[in-house]
Amino acid sequence: MAFFRTINFTELLPSIEGDGVLLRTPQMTDFEEWAALREQSRDFLTPWEPTWPDDDLTRSSFRRRIKRYVEDLRADQGYAFLILRYSDGALVGGLTLANIRRGVAQAGSVGYWMGLPFVRHGYMTAALRAVVPFAFATLRLHRLEAACIPSNAGSVRLLEKTGFLREGYAREYLCINGIWQDHLLYARLKDAPPV
Ligand SMILES: CC(C)(COP(=O)(O)OP(=O)(O)OC[C@H]1O[C@@H](n2cnc3c(N)ncnc32)[C@H](O)[C@@H]1OP(=O)(O)O)[C@@H](O)C(=O)NCCC(=O)NCCS
Repeated sequence: MAFFRTINFTELLPSIEGDGVLLRTPQMTDFEEWAALREQSRDFLTPWEPTWPDDDLTRSSFRRRIKRYVEDLRADQGYAFLILRYSDGALVGGLTLANIRRGVAQAGSVGYWMGLPFVRHGYMTAALRAVVPFAFATLRLHRLEAACIPSNAGSVRLLEKTGFLREGYAREYLCINGIWQDHLLYARLKDAPPV
């Protein structure tokens, strides 16, 4: 496809290193490993994510996903990363800065998922800590937001240990797993002390 001959996503956005992890932009060559990990983690992830389309784990859907990521990146609307384990390059999860708002807001929303075999190894803590300076110093955002379902103990703990403060409670905020669900709202500001 002409699209993939002309665009090298990694040239648009360099990798980010964290403690034991590497964050880099997704490529078509990641498809098999990505689809296998998502399938293996399906029952773990689906309660916390928007409903997966029937074709979500197909190659053509992944191609559309990459195309959307490139468009978002070029428009400064979003930045998608895969999280790799530094020691062996294994794909462990993903993290996205989405809904970038410039102008008077200078804000963005962070979203993330960890593959089931890799949860509770500290990889998401490392990934989120690594992306914070990227968001504030490189992208010059002022505010990073995140939202999670109150019963999502892992996500609540992750946000609180990485310096996000709880700011509110939004009713039926996002449609997750097919249901409009209340969410806790968190944010971290540019000048918050490092954690
Ligand atoms: C939330 C999520 C990304 C955390 O990933 P992770 O790689 O396990 O995170 P870490 O290992 O860095 O752990 C972060 C903290 O959360 C804690 N934690 C993780 N899962 C937990 C759980 N199920 N219950 C309680 N605490 C949990 C860890 O113990 C750690 O805290 P600690 O350092 O005080 O021990 C992962 O559980 C996940 O993908 N969940 C399903 C999808 C999801 O929730 N997406 C986000 C929607 S808002």
